[in-house]
Amino acid sequence: MSTLVLDDIGLLVTNDPELGEGPLGVIRDAALVVEDERVAAIERAGAAADDLIDVGGRCVIPGFVDSHTHLVFAGDRAEEFAARMAGRPYEAGGIRVTTGATRRASDGELCESTERRRAEGLRAGITHVEIKSGYGLEVEAERRLCEIAAEFTDDVTFLGAHAVPAEYEGRADDYVDLVCGEMLAACVPHARWIDVFCERGAFTEEQSRAVLEAGRDAGLGLRVHGNQLGPGGGVRLATEMGAASVDHCTYLEDADIDALAAGDTVATFLPATDFSTRQPYPNARRAIDAGVRVAIATNTNPGSSNTTSMNFCIALAVRDLGMTVDEAVLAATAGGASALQRDDVGRLSPGARADAIVLDASSYVDFVYRPGVPLVAATMRAGEVAYDAAGLTPSGRA
Ligand code: NIG
Repeated sequence: MSTLVLDDIGLLVTNDPELGEGPLGVIRDAALVVEDERVAAIERAGAAADDLIDVGGRCVIPGFVDSHTHLVFAGDRAEEFAARMAGRPYEAGGIRVTTGATRRASDGELCESTERRRAEGLRAGITHVEIKSGYGLEVEAERRLCEIAAEFTDDVTFLGAHAVPAEYEGRADDYVDLVCGEMLAACVPHARWIDVFCERGAFTEEQSRAVLEAGRDAGLGLRVHGNQLGPGGGVRLATEMGAASVDHCTYLEDADIDALAAGDTVATFLPATDFSTRQPYPNARRAIDAGVRVAIATNTNPGSSNTTSMNFCIALAVRDLGMTVDEAVLAATAGGASALQRDDVGRLSPGARADAIVLDASSYVDFVYRPGVPLVAATMRAGEVAYDAAGLTPSGRA
């Protein structure tokens, strides 16, 4: 059995309040013992090991769990973004532009660009990622996106109901039938989840319910894009159907907060999207105070949130959504894990997958205190150093 120790951790965030102080379960002067891809133990700094990485008093936190991304796509919509910054509103129709580019791209091009985005995410500390399809919008194109996504994660989400494609203009119900039938059957072998964009300009509540019911009958877990562009039925539908997560939640009304607080559906906030679409920021404080379980995610996509920076999302969640720093870090790690109904990631306690970020900082508060500064010194995924900007090479100390 191979043992690796991350030693001389000045501040270790475990996300297990039984192991350390506060909601983040923080331990000072610690060593993290890793065996066979998992956290085996937490000891005092100065532990002995064959393979030892001295992190020099830095802060170590669980790897980010990014529970909402659209990583597989082709093309770029920088001009649309610039026009929006000049006053044009965000519209769901931009999805069709990326769908055109994605349909035209080869498998090799899509794999290569997804690999690049995944590498960028690892540099930002994202050790686990959910990836949606949704830029194919025809049977074989959606199947191909799910298959490519499955090369990068076991949390693949089938999102055939992302937009009505141009060839179905005016025939949205026919397209929903296709999504619930042939398209779902082609995608199920590669997916764990189904998602639907329940929003004016995308799919109605009734159409969204049909998509979720078909996915559930096919054995998939449920996720919903809801309440992004205005108040609507997304949160209501997600909570009624017991979805794992409802994402965006930019416009939450009292009834939405009550429904979320009464159930297990996680409200996933996507603050970089509100930034990039000039939407108002949601009031996460109100949701947390009401007892809602929350996550934050990057929503990496070419239209509404072209970033893999969870640091940036944390800074916005604190500055503009009303979260404390501890709450935002928890939402980007354990919150993401809850939104994906996983207990193997999002924490650094014995038994968890050894996914960790070594920060170039003595505290995670620097995510907000030093906005825009790259703070990830190294990323460890399943016990392997996946990114190392600090030259943290292992050495022995018996
Ligand atoms: O989560 N809201 C729907 N889907 C993406 C946007 C996709 C796009 O504009 O290309 C989102 O924001």
